[in-house]
Amino acid sequence: MTSTLSAYVEAYEPDIQKVLISSEEIQAKLEEMGERITSDYAGRSLLLVGVLKGAFVVMADLARYIRLPLEFDFMAVSSYGAATKTSGVVRILKDLDHDLEGRDVLLVEDIVDSGLTLKYLLKNLAGRKPASLEVAALLRKEGLQMVPLDIRYTGFDIPPEFVVGYGLDYAERFRNLPYVATLKPEAYGEA
Ligand code: IMP
Ligand code: MG
Repeated sequence: MTSTLSAYVEAYEPDIQKVLISSEEIQAKLEEMGERITSDYAGRSLLLVGVLKGAFVVMADLARYIRLPLEFDFMAVSSYGAATKTSGVVRILKDLDHDLEGRDVLLVEDIVDSGLTLKYLLKNLAGRKPASLEVAALLRKEGLQMVPLDIRYTGFDIPPEFVVGYGLDYAERFRNLPYVATLKPEAYGEA
């Protein structure tokens, strides 16, 4: 019997092509990132800002590896919908509840692909005068960043393929997979 975190979702299995990053690898990496964040911000408290919906999983796990007082807030921005290519258009669908002025803010992202979403968010959030603003992203797609970005904490660099799991969806499915995987070509036809 395996642990809950390495359990799989039987109904998703026919669509999964390859597991790129296992649940164990993700947890080990988040623990490492959490330890770095804990020492970098020692003696301070942090406001974690998650970008919905994808970041809710990484945010929940990463937060529990950060041994500091934390507050949480979320933003929702427009994403791909059911398509797998970025539109370059970013819209805020839900704004933050917190005032950022004077706060140490850590933006938590599931994945940075073109970087357009992140670039827009950083500019927007910086305008609210936080004491500091840094980024933690679990995944970064290699070679595809259209804009150079300063990401303080990165989990894994992955090839420029569309991936699902660990918060990432295709047509709103697969977010609850504990690992990151690619889909079989046939899986894209059904949405
Ligand atoms: P970017 O603006 O191109 O960096 O991508 C922004 C958003 O697109 C991410 O926060 C994800 O929600 C989504 N995204 C990018 N790549 C993938 C992927 O491989 N799988 C699922 N969602 C993705
Ligand atoms: Mg998405």
